[in-house]
Amino acid sequence: MSKTKEAKRVTTHVLQEMKARGQRISMITAYDYSLARLVDGAGIDVILVGDSASNVMAGHETTLPITLDQMIYHACGVVRGCERALIVVDLPFGTYQGNTKLALSSAIRIMKESGAHAVKLEGGREVAGSVERILSAGIPVMGHLGLTPQSIYKFGTYVVRAKEEAEAGRLREDAKLLEEAGCFAIVLEKIPAALAAEVARSVNIPVIGIGAGAGVDGQVLVLHDMLGINKEFNPRFLRRYADLHHIITDAVGNYISDVRSGDFPNTEEQY
Ligand code: KIV
Repeated sequence: MSKTKEAKRVTTHVLQEMKARGQRISMITAYDYSLARLVDGAGIDVILVGDSASNVMAGHETTLPITLDQMIYHACGVVRGCERALIVVDLPFGTYQGNTKLALSSAIRIMKESGAHAVKLEGGREVAGSVERILSAGIPVMGHLGLTPQSIYKFGTYVVRAKEEAEAGRLREDAKLLEEAGCFAIVLEKIPAALAAEVARSVNIPVIGIGAGAGVDGQVLVLHDMLGINKEFNPRFLRRYADLHHIITDAVGNYISDVRSGDFPNTEEQY
């Protein structure tokens, strides 16, 4: 990478400075070269190669089936498409829980084979050992608390988490613990806004919310959801910035009728 590109790159330190200045952090998912290039060019701060690829790219019902090899494949394309954003890759289900050695080797594979800059994993105290072991290799780790989709079969539903005081207290402690373990940021998913704001104030690392209100240090959305590609997913926290479902359906419909009618290609569109 050239020196100019390196100078522009968002780093974990830049995010820390943004929090200190009260400057909000923008984060979005991407899973391939072409869209990562667009998102990076638009000026996003952080790109998450999320295991939501399991849903939006592969069509699975949950994030559980996606493999480490598949995450690395997605991450490689994203890395090739980006010059500026910090690229964080999700450690998929089964590659870090309950086994710190496995966690480290999974994180090393992501960093070595994709060229991404950091990994993200779900959970608090139960994954603290994995966080520390990954950090011991100099790999930045982002935490993820609240609704953690890899535990969907434990929760049983995708409803808002930590509404009860017992779970809220545990989440507060886990956020502190992740900060102390050395995480450079934490994602809080689908928890009450007041709790998320309190957690963001209580830690010195950036807290990025999804369905966690405005009182945090930044926001993340799944790209395909905010672009309106998927019409069926309508949670309250989602703001749609485009209606690509209709745009793509109309464009492809027009192409089909032009092919069928013989209108495409015309004489200017041939050799
Ligand atoms: O996988 C993902 O897209 C995520 C975001 C929802 C934060 O983890």
